[in-house]
Amino acid sequence: MVDIDAQKRAAAEAAAALVMSGMVVGMGTGSTAAWFVRALAARRLDILGVPTSQATGNLATSLGIRIGQLGETKAIDLTVDGADEIGPGLALIKGGGAALLREKLVWEASRSCVVIADAAKHVKMLGKYPLPIEVVAFGHTTTALRICDALAECDLGIAPMLRRKDGEPVRTDGGNLIYDAACGRIVEPAALAAALKSVTGVVDHGLFLDLADRALIGGPDGVIELEP
Ligand code: A5P
Repeated sequence: MVDIDAQKRAAAEAAAALVMSGMVVGMGTGSTAAWFVRALAARRLDILGVPTSQATGNLATSLGIRIGQLGETKAIDLTVDGADEIGPGLALIKGGGAALLREKLVWEASRSCVVIADAAKHVKMLGKYPLPIEVVAFGHTTTALRICDALAECDLGIAPMLRRKDGEPVRTDGGNLIYDAACGRIVEPAALAAALKSVTGVVDHGLFLDLADRALIGGPDGVIELEP
Protein backbone atom coordinates (compact mmCIF):
# COMPACT_ATOMS: atom_id res chain seq x y z
CA MET A 1 0.00 0.00 0.00
CA VAL A 2 1.30 3.45 -0.95
CA ASP A 3 1.77 5.81 1.96
CA ILE A 4 0.19 9.03 0.73
CA ASP A 5 1.44 10.99 3.70
CA ALA A 6 5.02 9.88 3.02
CA GLN A 7 4.66 11.11 -0.57
CA LYS A 8 3.35 14.49 0.59
CA ARG A 9 6.17 14.76 3.09
CA ALA A 10 8.86 13.86 0.54
CA ALA A 11 7.56 16.50 -1.88
CA ALA A 12 7.42 19.05 0.95
CA GLU A 13 10.98 18.32 2.05
CA ALA A 14 12.22 18.69 -1.54
CA ALA A 15 10.53 22.09 -1.68
CA ALA A 16 11.94 23.16 1.68
CA ALA A 17 15.42 22.43 0.29
CA LEU A 18 14.85 25.23 -2.27
CA VAL A 19 14.55 27.87 0.46
CA MET A 20 17.56 29.97 1.43
CA SER A 21 18.15 32.28 4.37
CA GLY A 22 16.93 35.82 3.77
CA MET A 23 13.97 34.75 1.65
CA VAL A 24 10.36 35.79 2.06
CA VAL A 25 8.39 32.56 1.66
CA GLY A 26 4.70 32.15 0.87
CA MET A 27 3.30 29.23 2.82
CA GLY A 28 0.28 27.35 1.49
CA THR A 29 -2.59 25.68 3.28
CA GLY A 30 -3.55 22.03 3.75
CA SER A 31 -1.88 18.82 4.86
CA THR A 32 0.90 18.90 2.24
CA ALA A 33 1.68 22.56 2.91
CA ALA A 34 1.79 21.74 6.63
CA TRP A 35 4.56 19.23 5.90
CA PHE A 36 6.38 22.02 4.09
CA VAL A 37 6.06 24.38 7.07
CA ARG A 38 7.41 21.66 9.38
CA ALA A 39 10.32 20.89 7.04
CA LEU A 40 11.08 24.59 6.75
CA ALA A 41 11.05 25.06 10.52
CA ALA A 42 13.42 22.09 10.90
CA ARG A 43 15.97 23.87 8.67
CA ARG A 44 16.14 26.80 11.11
CA LEU A 45 16.77 29.35 8.35
CA ASP A 46 16.42 33.07 8.79
CA ILE A 47 13.30 33.54 6.67
CA LEU A 48 10.02 35.40 6.87
CA GLY A 49 6.86 33.40 6.12
CA VAL A 50 3.72 34.80 4.52
CA PRO A 51 0.85 32.44 5.41
CA THR A 52 -2.17 31.83 3.18
CA SER A 53 -4.50 31.08 6.10
CA GLN A 54 -4.94 31.57 9.80
CA ALA A 55 -4.24 27.85 10.31
CA THR A 56 -0.91 28.00 8.49
CA GLY A 57 0.07 31.17 10.32
CA ASN A 58 -0.66 29.48 13.65
CA LEU A 59 1.36 26.40 12.69
CA ALA A 60 4.33 28.46 11.50
CA THR A 61 4.34 30.61 14.63
CA SER A 62 4.13 27.55 16.89
CA LEU A 63 7.24 26.17 15.15
CA GLY A 64 9.21 29.40 15.55
CA ILE A 65 8.89 30.78 12.01
CA ARG A 66 8.53 34.56 11.89
CA ILE A 67 5.51 35.58 9.83
CA GLY A 68 4.31 38.72 8.12
CA GLN A 69 1.09 39.42 6.27
CA LEU A 70 0.79 39.86 2.52
CA GLY A 71 1.60 43.43 1.55
CA GLU A 72 3.50 44.12 4.76
CA THR A 73 6.73 42.34 3.78
CA LYS A 74 9.34 42.62 1.05
CA ALA A 75 8.39 40.87 -2.20
CA ILE A 76 7.70 37.15 -1.81
CA ASP A 77 10.58 35.15 -3.31
CA LEU A 78 8.99 31.72 -3.33
CA THR A 79 5.59 30.27 -2.48
CA VAL A 80 5.08 26.58 -1.81
CA ASP A 81 1.58 25.13 -1.61
CA GLY A 82 -0.41 21.95 -2.17
CA ALA A 83 -3.17 21.30 -4.71
CA ASP A 84 -6.23 19.14 -5.17
CA GLU A 85 -5.41 18.36 -8.80
CA ILE A 86 -2.40 19.04 -11.01
CA GLY A 87 -3.27 18.87 -14.70
CA PRO A 88 -1.52 19.47 -18.02
CA GLY A 89 0.65 22.61 -18.09
CA LEU A 90 0.56 22.62 -14.29
CA ALA A 91 -2.99 23.95 -14.35
CA LEU A 92 -4.36 23.35 -10.86
CA ILE A 93 -7.52 22.93 -8.86
CA LYS A 94 -7.10 24.33 -5.37
CA GLY A 95 -9.38 25.33 -2.52
CA GLY A 96 -10.24 21.98 -0.96
CA GLY A 97 -9.25 23.60 2.32
CA ALA A 98 -11.33 26.73 1.62
CA ALA A 99 -8.23 28.95 1.44
CA LEU A 100 -8.20 29.55 -2.32
CA LEU A 101 -8.58 33.34 -2.24
CA ARG A 102 -5.72 34.03 0.13
CA GLU A 103 -3.68 31.37 -1.64
CA LYS A 104 -4.22 32.99 -5.02
CA LEU A 105 -3.40 36.44 -3.64
CA VAL A 106 -0.11 35.15 -2.25
CA TRP A 107 0.71 33.09 -5.36
CA GLU A 108 0.12 36.03 -7.67
CA ALA A 109 2.39 38.22 -5.55
CA SER A 110 5.26 35.69 -5.66
CA ARG A 111 8.31 35.66 -7.90
CA SER A 112 8.13 31.88 -8.10
CA CYS A 113 5.55 29.25 -7.11
CA VAL A 114 6.11 25.55 -6.46
CA VAL A 115 3.21 23.14 -6.08
CA ILE A 116 3.76 20.03 -3.99
CA ALA A 117 1.58 16.92 -3.89
CA ASP A 118 1.32 13.16 -3.73
CA ALA A 119 1.14 11.24 -7.00
CA ALA A 120 -2.66 10.75 -6.92
CA LYS A 121 -3.13 14.49 -7.48
CA HIS A 122 -1.44 14.36 -10.89
CA VAL A 123 -4.20 13.95 -13.51
CA LYS A 124 -4.55 13.96 -17.29
CA MET A 125 -7.55 16.29 -17.19
CA LEU A 126 -8.82 18.59 -14.44
CA GLY A 127 -12.32 18.24 -13.07
CA LYS A 128 -12.77 15.04 -11.15
CA TYR A 129 -12.17 16.99 -7.95
CA PRO A 130 -15.10 19.41 -7.44
CA LEU A 131 -14.06 22.95 -8.31
CA PRO A 132 -14.31 25.30 -5.29
CA ILE A 133 -15.84 28.72 -5.96
CA GLU A 134 -15.69 31.41 -3.27
CA VAL A 135 -18.67 33.76 -3.12
CA VAL A 136 -19.73 36.62 -0.89
CA ALA A 137 -22.43 35.60 1.59
CA PHE A 138 -24.84 38.39 0.62
CA GLY A 139 -27.32 36.99 -1.91
CA HIS A 140 -25.32 33.80 -2.36
CA THR A 141 -28.25 31.65 -3.53
CA THR A 142 -28.84 34.15 -6.35
CA THR A 143 -25.11 34.11 -7.14
CA ALA A 144 -25.30 30.29 -7.25
CA LEU A 145 -27.98 30.50 -9.97
CA ARG A 146 -25.75 32.80 -11.98
CA ILE A 147 -22.86 30.39 -11.50
CA CYS A 148 -25.13 27.70 -13.03
CA ASP A 149 -25.54 29.91 -16.10
CA ALA A 150 -21.77 30.42 -16.33
CA LEU A 151 -21.19 26.67 -16.04
CA ALA A 152 -23.82 26.03 -18.72
CA GLU A 153 -21.99 28.45 -21.05
CA CYS A 154 -19.06 26.06 -20.71
CA ASP A 155 -21.25 23.01 -21.47
CA LEU A 156 -21.34 21.99 -17.83
CA GLY A 157 -24.95 21.30 -16.92
CA ILE A 158 -24.41 21.07 -13.19
CA ALA A 159 -25.44 22.95 -10.07
CA PRO A 160 -22.76 23.95 -7.54
CA MET A 161 -23.27 22.75 -3.98
CA LEU A 162 -22.85 24.99 -0.94
CA ARG A 163 -20.03 23.52 1.17
CA ARG A 164 -21.11 22.63 4.69
CA LYS A 165 -19.39 21.23 7.75
CA ASP A 166 -21.38 19.75 10.62
CA GLY A 167 -24.50 21.02 8.86
CA GLU A 168 -23.33 24.63 8.79
CA PRO A 169 -22.03 26.53 5.75
CA VAL A 170 -18.24 26.67 5.73
CA ARG A 171 -16.87 30.19 6.12
CA THR A 172 -13.48 31.14 4.69
CA ASP A 173 -10.94 33.16 6.70
CA GLY A 174 -12.40 36.20 4.92
CA GLY A 175 -15.98 35.31 5.93
CA ASN A 176 -17.09 34.19 2.48
CA LEU A 177 -18.85 30.95 1.43
CA ILE A 178 -17.68 28.14 -0.83
CA TYR A 179 -19.67 26.40 -3.55
CA ASP A 180 -18.25 23.23 -5.09
CA ALA A 181 -18.91 22.43 -8.75
CA ALA A 182 -18.59 18.76 -9.70
CA CYS A 183 -17.47 19.47 -13.26
CA GLY A 184 -16.27 15.95 -14.05
CA ARG A 185 -14.11 17.09 -16.95
CA ILE A 186 -12.80 20.62 -17.49
CA VAL A 187 -11.94 20.71 -21.16
CA GLU A 188 -11.22 24.44 -21.37
CA PRO A 189 -10.01 25.67 -17.97
CA ALA A 190 -9.29 29.24 -19.18
CA ALA A 191 -12.81 29.68 -20.59
CA LEU A 192 -14.35 28.33 -17.39
CA ALA A 193 -12.14 30.58 -15.26
CA ALA A 194 -13.22 33.64 -17.25
CA ALA A 195 -16.91 32.71 -17.11
CA LEU A 196 -16.84 32.25 -13.35
CA LYS A 197 -14.92 35.48 -12.73
CA SER A 198 -17.55 37.40 -14.71
CA VAL A 199 -20.26 36.58 -12.15
CA THR A 200 -20.83 39.36 -9.63
CA GLY A 201 -20.65 37.84 -6.18
CA VAL A 202 -17.96 35.34 -7.13
CA VAL A 203 -14.82 36.40 -5.33
CA ASP A 204 -12.60 33.80 -6.99
CA HIS A 205 -12.40 30.15 -7.99
CA GLY A 206 -9.95 27.33 -7.48
CA LEU A 207 -8.53 27.21 -10.99
CA PHE A 208 -4.88 28.27 -10.75
CA LEU A 209 -3.75 28.69 -14.35
CA ASP A 210 -0.27 29.78 -15.48
CA LEU A 211 0.79 30.31 -11.88
CA ALA A 212 2.88 27.26 -10.94
CA ASP A 213 6.49 27.39 -12.13
CA ARG A 214 7.31 23.91 -10.94
CA ALA A 215 5.66 20.83 -9.41
CA LEU A 216 7.34 18.45 -6.99
CA ILE A 217 5.32 15.27 -6.83
CA GLY A 218 6.03 12.51 -4.34
CA GLY A 219 5.55 8.99 -5.64
CA PRO A 220 6.44 5.40 -4.83
CA ASP A 221 9.86 5.87 -6.46
CA GLY A 222 10.69 9.27 -4.99
CA VAL A 223 9.97 12.86 -5.97
CA ILE A 224 9.59 13.85 -9.61
CA GLU A 225 9.84 17.40 -10.87
CA LEU A 226 7.56 18.83 -13.57
CA GLU A 227 7.56 22.17 -15.35
CA PRO A 228 4.66 23.71 -17.25
C1 A5P B 1 -6.44 24.71 0.49
O1 A5P B 1 -7.50 25.58 0.26
C2 A5P B 1 -6.12 23.94 -0.74
O2 A5P B 1 -5.88 24.69 -1.86
C3 A5P B 1 -5.03 22.92 -0.49
O3 A5P B 1 -3.79 23.38 -0.91
C4 A5P B 1 -5.41 21.70 -1.21
O4 A5P B 1 -6.74 21.37 -0.83
C5 A5P B 1 -4.49 20.53 -0.93
O5 A5P B 1 -4.68 20.08 0.37
P1 A5P B 1 -3.93 18.80 0.91
O6 A5P B 1 -2.47 19.08 0.82
O7 A5P B 1 -4.43 18.65 2.32
O8 A5P B 1 -4.34 17.65 0.04
